[in-house]
Amino acid sequence: MLTEIAPGVFWVGAVDWALRRFHGHELSTNHGSTYNAYLIIDDKVTLIDTVWGPFQDVLMKNISEIIDPSKIDIVVASHAEVDHSGSLPEVLRHCPEADVIVSQRGLESIPGHYRQPWRFKAVKTGDSVSIGKRTLQFIEAPMLHWPDNLFTYLEGDGVLFSSDAFGEHYAMSGRFNEQANQDVLNWEAVKYYANILNPFAVMVGRKIDELSSLGLPINIIAPSHGVIWRHDPMQIVKKYREWAEQKPECSAVIVYDTMWQATRHMAEAVGEGLSEGGVPFKMYNASTADRNNVMTEIFLSKAVILGSPTFNQGMLPTMAPVLEDMKGLKFKNKIGAAFGTYGWSGEVVDVLENYLKACQIELAALGVKAKWRPGPEELEACRGLGRTMAEACKAGG
Ligand code: FEO
Repeated sequence: MLTEIAPGVFWVGAVDWALRRFHGHELSTNHGSTYNAYLIIDDKVTLIDTVWGPFQDVLMKNISEIIDPSKIDIVVASHAEVDHSGSLPEVLRHCPEADVIVSQRGLESIPGHYRQPWRFKAVKTGDSVSIGKRTLQFIEAPMLHWPDNLFTYLEGDGVLFSSDAFGEHYAMSGRFNEQANQDVLNWEAVKYYANILNPFAVMVGRKIDELSSLGLPINIIAPSHGVIWRHDPMQIVKKYREWAEQKPECSAVIVYDTMWQATRHMAEAVGEGLSEGGVPFKMYNASTADRNNVMTEIFLSKAVILGSPTFNQGMLPTMAPVLEDMKGLKFKNKIGAAFGTYGWSGEVVDVLENYLKACQIELAALGVKAKWRPGPEELEACRGLGRTMAEACKAGG
């Protein structure tokens, strides 16, 4: 069913209930996703974004329920990533004379993807276009999520079409935030921020400052994924402000892998030490955990503790995607430590600590090594590592 989110403004997107991996296979989407597109009926009919190509039939059917697609005058292509631009060729096949509004950087990315002679019109922050009774105002939003992202603000109705910002991967039957399971919504929103936008946290903070300084009344935030924020829409902006500051809670995440359970025993002893120190923790085996969920927990937590046996003079390869992702996501204000077993050469603790340093994570406890299987002494050292990390966490260091 199509939803009118404001007078004459319709959601015409698609719900992808089956999606479990996104960005190829990079990102887990445990609750599916939506590709949100919006149709504004005014003197000039305007489409804000399209949907991923496999769903173009859904988009065209939705548009056709409201208006003949050949009547579209303006297509705002907020972002070239194909989950939003993928149906542009099909839309513009119906309305080839439509203006295609893009950001300055979108003038590179959209033609680069489609190589079509569409009627591009590049806009920058502060530009506006009258569509009849109403006006669209544009705000460039570079790095939320690519350099080309563009916000569109519908004056009068106070609708902010925010492209990738303020979204989440969450398929549901309703369209609005108050209709969602709030626990799922909150989790998917922070997971989306941590895994997609956190590398650009500084720019997120600046963009929110800029939005505030513009003083635009915002009644609805309509992102390109997930719920439309209608009830208390600024709650997600406040969350982004908090998340961009990267002030994690006093909790810990232990990520390890193990060959024959010896490193697992060390991980559990580290957990005991954290509990003795009064700090909650979560523990993941890197070979079975959902990497993006682990990243979300690391984003939320102050302490990151890594463990692995020495394997080929390094770590078990299952740890590498976790560490590589952690480095790329540029988490700040964290403390770390490492532990591991070995039989012969025993390099792994140094390798893990070097990874933590490369992630700008301060080492807050001495690493613990156990030759062969950890005995009572090594297990007590692991508990000591946990207690030390708990104290550092509570001290805010
Ligand atoms: Fe939802 Fe950056 O595309």
